[in-house]
Amino acid sequence: MAYENICPHLGGPVCQGQILPLTLEAVDPATKASEGRIFSKEQTNIVCPWHGWEFDLRTGRHVANRRMRLHPVDVRVADGEVYVTLPRRPGPTMPVIAAAPDQPRPAA
Ligand code: FES
Repeated sequence: MAYENICPHLGGPVCQGQILPLTLEAVDPATKASEGRIFSKEQTNIVCPWHGWEFDLRTGRHVANRRMRLHPVDVRVADGEVYVTLPRRPGPTMPVIAAAPDQPRPAA
């Protein structure tokens, strides 16, 4: 999976953001008291450096507003090469965010 390097908020360079596991708050089911923060083992997010919007790397969706998302681009691997197809748009072409870390990488 790859995405255009354009944050849907205000167009920030989301590829320059940190990649972090989703942060959760552990809650005691009986008392509902916080037991502190923990990191998800299932979800990794990328954080846009301009205003901190977070997106799930696997889906491109914003963590809180599922209607907001990074725009996916087609990725194809053939003969050990990775091909990324960008949409045709007026204006300069933006670079692409690298594939999610759990994606297999072709041999060099
Ligand atoms: S431009 Fe990305 S969070 Fe605002």
